[in-house]
Amino acid sequence: MEKGCANSMKVCSVVGNRPQFIKSVLLHHELRQQCELVVVNTGQHYDYALSGIFFDELEMPGPDYDLHVGSGGHVTQVARVLDRIEEVIKKEKPDKVIVWGDTNSTLGAALAAVKMGIPVAHVEAGPRQYDLGIPEEVNRVVVDHISTYLFAPTQHCANVLLMENIPLSRVWTTGDVMFDNFLRFAPKTREHRHVLVTIHRPVNTDNADRLWSIIMALESIQVNAGIGQVIFPAHPRTVHRLDGHRKSIVSMTEPVSYLEMLSLLCKANLVITDSGGLQKEAYWAGVPCLNVDVSGLWPELEEAGWNRVVDPVGLIDAAIDTHVGQSIDGVFGDGKAYKRIAEILTSA
Ligand code: UD1
Repeated sequence: MEKGCANSMKVCSVVGNRPQFIKSVLLHHELRQQCELVVVNTGQHYDYALSGIFFDELEMPGPDYDLHVGSGGHVTQVARVLDRIEEVIKKEKPDKVIVWGDTNSTLGAALAAVKMGIPVAHVEAGPRQYDLGIPEEVNRVVVDHISTYLFAPTQHCANVLLMENIPLSRVWTTGDVMFDNFLRFAPKTREHRHVLVTIHRPVNTDNADRLWSIIMALESIQVNAGIGQVIFPAHPRTVHRLDGHRKSIVSMTEPVSYLEMLSLLCKANLVITDSGGLQKEAYWAGVPCLNVDVSGLWPELEEAGWNRVVDPVGLIDAAIDTHVGQSIDGVFGDGKAYKRIAEILTSA
């Protein structure tokens, strides 16, 4: 048993993508005090700027296993996780397997665990976009329906799960572990001096015309909207797609660390993104957000006016006409989701 463990339970947590490394920091720390924790990194993200940097910056112990799944088609990625995690689960024999969010790593790990008779705990259960053409939607729906512990970040997410006939006894509304992180790590000062952009979803990057219309809109916002410089820390997928055409007046940088991202966010007067996570962080920082066609994930933010869904053509007008939304305090919990989740996992 690990030093400091309060009981003999063994929990295996599977991460593999940038947001999962960040989301897991507080719950992993909490679980290490209460039980034995085995951390598996699928290696879906492998560049230092998308993976190792977060372990270093947040002072997290390195993972116990790395499956080196890497890049590939969706089927290949899921298949590699399924295949490679079997040995780890056989060897470690965990009592529960935790999976996070909606990536291919999440699906592969959850499928392997449930097939091997290990109960799955899903952190960030319940968001839906109701479009099975979106790879993450397939992952969300399947993982929620094969999980035993579903940790919903909002009441709306919990209601979705109940409407899909998932038994109430499996669903807990815990609050959002990303909000826990934000309260812990975000700077307290706000400055409002630039436009922060991230674009990485295939829907926006994999069609060259669409990606270029977004870049042109960003250039126009920088020149004409009078709301400051555009800062765009770019995911490698976006950089690859732009290839030799990167020369733009928009300041496109390498991916940044979590703390640097929070610092950029808290100095922003507008966020333009297709990230589900940054949509929420923008609200917590009090910064209006234009969401480039990733609708439905957080309807609370859309309804309260914090998060406006726009297509590339509408970006410039929407950027000129931004405003903050109504207060929806408490929707994402109270900053203690990780404590609730740890308690449920170690007592059940
Ligand atoms: C994945 C998730 C997405 C999540 C995102 C977080 C799925 C289906 N999608 O998308 O939900 O929002 O992670 O960032 O799991 N690449 C590198 N270096 C890396 C990793 C990837 O250069 O370390 C490049 C490769 O060209 C790769 C591409 O990025 O083909 C896409 O990576 P992939 O892991 O397939 O999906 P993401 O777009 O990162």
